Amino acid sequence: MSDAIQAPRGTLDWLPPRSGARRAMIAAFGARAERAGFREAQTPVFEEKGLFARTAGESSEVVGKEMYVFTDQGERELALRPEFTAGIVRAYLEHGLSREAQPVRLWSAGSCYRYAAVQRGRYREFTQVNAEAIGSDDPAVDAELIALQVGWFRELGLDGIEVRLNTIGDRADREPYLALLRAYLDEHLGDVDGDVSRQRELNPLRAFDTKDPASQAVMAGAPVIADHVGEAAAAHFAQVRAFLDARGIPYVLDPTLVRGLDYYSRTTWEVSWPELGAQSGIGGGGRYDGLAELIGGPPTPGVGFACGVERVLLALEAQERLPGAPSACDAFFMVLAAEARPALHALMEQARERGLACEADLAGRAAKGQMKQADRVGAARTVVCGDDEWARRVCLVRDMTSGEQVEVALDDLVGHLADAAGGAQA
Ligand code: HAM
Repeated sequence: MSDAIQAPRGTLDWLPPRSGARRAMIAAFGARAERAGFREAQTPVFEEKGLFARTAGESSEVVGKEMYVFTDQGERELALRPEFTAGIVRAYLEHGLSREAQPVRLWSAGSCYRYAAVQRGRYREFTQVNAEAIGSDDPAVDAELIALQVGWFRELGLDGIEVRLNTIGDRADREPYLALLRAYLDEHLGDVDGDVSRQRELNPLRAFDTKDPASQAVMAGAPVIADHVGEAAAAHFAQVRAFLDARGIPYVLDPTLVRGLDYYSRTTWEVSWPELGAQSGIGGGGRYDGLAELIGGPPTPGVGFACGVERVLLALEAQERLPGAPSACDAFFMVLAAEARPALHALMEQARERGLACEADLAGRAAKGQMKQADRVGAARTVVCGDDEWARRVCLVRDMTSGEQVEVALDDLVGHLADAAGGAQA
């Protein structure tokens, strides 16, 4: 398919049956987050470009290469949101959320946009579920967030995830370390590729993300930030780990883990499902105590994470654990007497009002075709009304599992179906 018409998102993810799975996954995330005190928040799909550029950082791939930027009719430079965090913190600052009990905990789900080469698990329009806790630097909050994320994966039945955890210290502590790292890179400039040399100037931490094997070999010997964090950040990290250990959440320490966005400080983590290969990152997060100041607010601690719904979907599918099987059909109406259709369709509608899932043939199928269709939709019962039944104002209700069949007066049909389905709500 040419690039011009290449789907910007994993199109199949938005169609049945995956669309049902996607909805079930997001609903499970929201319900879990709300049980932990999070409330839902949505931010605009596009915002001032500077909001993302200032926070995620000009040196990040997300801002430097992947942001969808456009100018509107008022000559404002806008960007499609590449993530939720900056928009959520902006909303927190602008809408008085700092006056509420802290930390303010918000969850979101929706489309994000990044201009990247589309491949399996990497799309230009993709979906994140996101959670942020703003207004507290308590290490228990970091653990709460990681527990929420890991708990969601567990609830979905995803086996084999890996949580990698690191601390990148406080921003104020970073300069001496960056000087060390630059000095190390200077010693090895001949062995790293052009991207890494450029990162030496912009943000040498990013050099750890290099995909170039020779540069990776150099970075394997580089000083790591976790060994150079200040006392306060180290103590904070020890407590985060103690909370995770007490909760029995497994993780591995990865002192080379740096995230792709510049606003992080202290705790950072990533979750991967290695079998996805190149796009194995199914979630990532961290603390961002300096972010609010970058957008003009007072110092405000915060921590959060996001997960890529499409990648989680691929992982679940690989394990044959896609949630949200198509909704079961309580009754399939096989109306074989043409004359009876309007009346039977009216009864079908009444049954739906009682909370039952009902379908009828809508494609002029003969009896055999209708029976097949009832099977296909997994109907628990069929309601058959042929000429003979119609003449007597009755129908045959057949239990598709037991094969048992009863004749029911049309006047009693809705009540009968509701009782049979286990007393669906009136
Ligand atoms: P991120 O690591 O850039 O973090 O993205 C989070 C997740 O979004 C990734 O782990 C991945 O699963 C998914 N993702 C990213 N790009 C794509 C893409 N092009 N196609 C499909 N999935 C993708 C953030 O966005 C931070 N805002 C997370 C955070 C929240 N940190 C603090 N609070």
